[in-house]
Amino acid sequence: MKKNMTSTKLIAKKLAGEKISALTAYDASFAGVFSEQGVDVILVGDSLGMVLQGHNSTIPVTLEDICYHTRCVYAGNKGSLLIADMPFMTYSTPQQTWDNAAKLMQAGANMVKLEGGKWLLESIAGLNERGIPVCAHVGLTPQSVNVFGGYKVQGREEEQADNIVQESIALEAAGAQLLVIECVPSGLAKRISEALTIPVIGIGAGVDCDGQILVMHDLLGISSGYIPKFSKNYMSLTGDIHKATAAYVDEVSKGLFPGPEHSFE
Ligand code: KIV
Repeated sequence: MKKNMTSTKLIAKKLAGEKISALTAYDASFAGVFSEQGVDVILVGDSLGMVLQGHNSTIPVTLEDICYHTRCVYAGNKGSLLIADMPFMTYSTPQQTWDNAAKLMQAGANMVKLEGGKWLLESIAGLNERGIPVCAHVGLTPQSVNVFGGYKVQGREEEQADNIVQESIALEAAGAQLLVIECVPSGLAKRISEALTIPVIGIGAGVDCDGQILVMHDLLGISSGYIPKFSKNYMSLTGDIHKATAAYVDEVSKGLFPGPEHSFE
């Protein structure tokens, strides 16, 4: 179904209490299937460093990698909003951010995603002024895995939780049009979703976000090694990629995914 999703339509979905579905994709074929099955947002995530390239983190991913996969996804996409990740250290200064984000937009992205909090405010405001919409990413930000000392749930302590709330509010005020929140307690994600006007898309953040995102390899049960608690294998339930995608969209829209077993309290 071609629906030409936009950030304005995503905000309208939030206002109407309709849940947003999002998946990662890295090529034209999967982008075609996901958009046809009604997935609102496709992310060309730097998770490709792990699920496509076989690294143990997202840190080796380059801007050229994301540009290449964004071009592939753009070619197959039939109307989902296309977000491209800015890789590790490609947005460390405002000018570098603007130059590199322009390349992702020229590759076909509708929006770019950056991991981090208050240190990004000038870069985000400048992206908006230059016509580039932004999705911010808070909570467990995988590019900072070496600072966190592992892939750990964030915001369990009150002070850290308050800090994530304040940073989310500041990111929206700077012009972010979407927020991804990863691996935080469900109550904290609910608090942030209620505090913000922009849609909040969760992964490992409970059912009370405005939408959900999954890495496509987790949806299809083809991730090797560690399977995150927040993932759900829809392929084993349906046996078919189209049906697995449709079941995910349906469960997200009805608030059936994620369940408590996929969430952190
Ligand atoms: O890179 C990625 O796939 C992501 C999602 C997990 C949100 O950032």
